[in-house]
Amino acid sequence: MLNLDSIDEIFSKHSINAVIHFAAMKAVGESMQLPLLYYKNNMIGIINLLIAMEKYHVYNLVFSSSCTVYGEPSKLPLTEYDHTGNISNVYGRTKYFIEEMLKDISKADLNWNIIALRYFNPVGAHVSGKIGEDPTKKFTNLMPYISQVAIGKKPVLEIYGSDYDTVDGTGVRDYIHVMDLATGHIAALKKIMSERLGIKFYNLGTGKGWTVLQLISIFEKVNKVKVPFVIKARRVGDISSMYADVSLAETDLKWKASRTIEDMCRDFWRWQTLNPNGYKTKL
Ligand code: UD1
Repeated sequence: MLNLDSIDEIFSKHSINAVIHFAAMKAVGESMQLPLLYYKNNMIGIINLLIAMEKYHVYNLVFSSSCTVYGEPSKLPLTEYDHTGNISNVYGRTKYFIEEMLKDISKADLNWNIIALRYFNPVGAHVSGKIGEDPTKKFTNLMPYISQVAIGKKPVLEIYGSDYDTVDGTGVRDYIHVMDLATGHIAALKKIMSERLGIKFYNLGTGKGWTVLQLISIFEKVNKVKVPFVIKARRVGDISSMYADVSLAETDLKWKASRTIEDMCRDFWRWQTLNPNGYKTKL
């Protein structure tokens, strides 16, 4: 993505109607330590793609954005019309800046037809257990960490804060199964291929929030495992609660998440147990 010539070559060789852009870095903690890397990868990557798309007259784009663009919510659930931009981390700012850039280009050239999907917290894995998340860095999201503790690769899960204003004091998130996220992209693609939109934004979530403790308990129950945890201080930049109003995607894209929180835990665990070393071959 950082090499415009390589992207250009792909467009010159193939007849492309639409692009789904997933390629970006997404670890909040890392983005605070290596901001330039995040700005370089996330911003230059999309700029190169847009340059190539414009050159080859490919104007249909589905972009992976994030609920992080909303910053600390002033009310819940979050709708697509809520304010964006007051963001506490660099990763989130790259998504926000890109959304603003996409608004600008679609204003300047009416050929653009763009959907930015604001993902809430994607978890789970493909039901086959063959495709899943394999964190290679020390910055790990909650579910992969729970799973690594359950399988014995990590001794204990650290819960970041138990003094939030939530039912049990731990943070609330809207977890969405990655396969529901995938069907959300297909729905978005169908929409941009059949209608003139300019630019549109959609939340992809389930509309329901779960606390960290609730997620641990469901994971333990459905997978019959133990996840020891300790309560630690809040993580810098973390938000207390976040969940989506998903009605716009339902109405416009005719899409709705169908997998349960139990499916998310079960499918992630299947991936983890079938591939204890992720994509790496056994050492
Ligand atoms: C963040 C971003 C999200 C982004 C994602 C990718 C926000 C609001 N969300 O999600 O847009 O796509 O990162 O990296 O910025 N937790 C623990 N212990 C752990 C890990 C997490 O207690 O070891 C807690 C967190 O405090 C939080 C919840 O689990 O309450 C989920 O955290 P995580 O999976 O890291 O995702 P977010 O920070 O919500």
